[in-house]
Amino acid sequence: VAPGGSEPESDERQAFIARMQEVARAVAFDRRSWSPDLAFEVRTIFDDRAAGWWTHRSPQYIRPLTDAIEAAGARGGVCLDIGSGVSLQEETLCARFDRVIAIDISAAMLRLAERHCAELVRADASALPILDKSVDFIVCVNMFLFPGECTRVLRETGTIAFISTSGSGTPIYLSPEDVRDALIAYGDSRFATVSGTSGDAFWTIARRAVR
Ligand SMILES: C[S@@+](CC[C@H](N)C(=O)[O-])C[C@H]1O[C@@H](n2cnc3c(N)ncnc32)[C@H](O)[C@@H]1O
Repeated sequence: VAPGGSEPESDERQAFIARMQEVARAVAFDRRSWSPDLAFEVRTIFDDRAAGWWTHRSPQYIRPLTDAIEAAGARGGVCLDIGSGVSLQEETLCARFDRVIAIDISAAMLRLAERHCAELVRADASALPILDKSVDFIVCVNMFLFPGECTRVLRETGTIAFISTSGSGTPIYLSPEDVRDALIAYGDSRFATVSGTSGDAFWTIARRAVR
């Protein structure tokens, strides 16, 4: 059943969700799983979906992000939106942070961004072109979690917000427990996580515990 609806999912959609959920878990828990072939597969999938991506824009889509930012009490500093797509979250992030960098592997997605305030960068999140410990707040909305790179670029007091806008029916999905376990397994620090729901969406914020 479609998240938030009563229509059955098509076979094609079910296969897509299953494949993306499989990749999401692999990437989160096995750093060797991301390969050039997999990057090509994912980039092609999202290049093909880019043209329709603005149809996702709605208050419901953005709300879990605003709820997560509020729960984190985050404001100011550098925000990195990883897997930003067409940058539906840009205005929300620019209103709260001093600098917003939006990164995506899909050139087709980035071409369709409106470019009001964020710096857009085409890059693979498995190798972020970002300095160590330089980011205050990382956003992953319906995006794979690369724990090694997130923990590398995050400041000691930084926070990661991981959001699944259709809950466990989200194609690129990790449970709140998976987010915590993946970060702890890869990170050089301990993470304290808080999770919540916003309608159908799940959000998790992970903050490095101060040593
Ligand atoms: C489901 S879309 C979400 C887009 C956006 N966060 C949103 O909520 O509208 C996932 C996005 O992540 C991007 N992506 C997937 N793997 C990536 C990677 N390794 N590095 C950078 N971007 C990636 C895709 O190109 C796509 O734009």
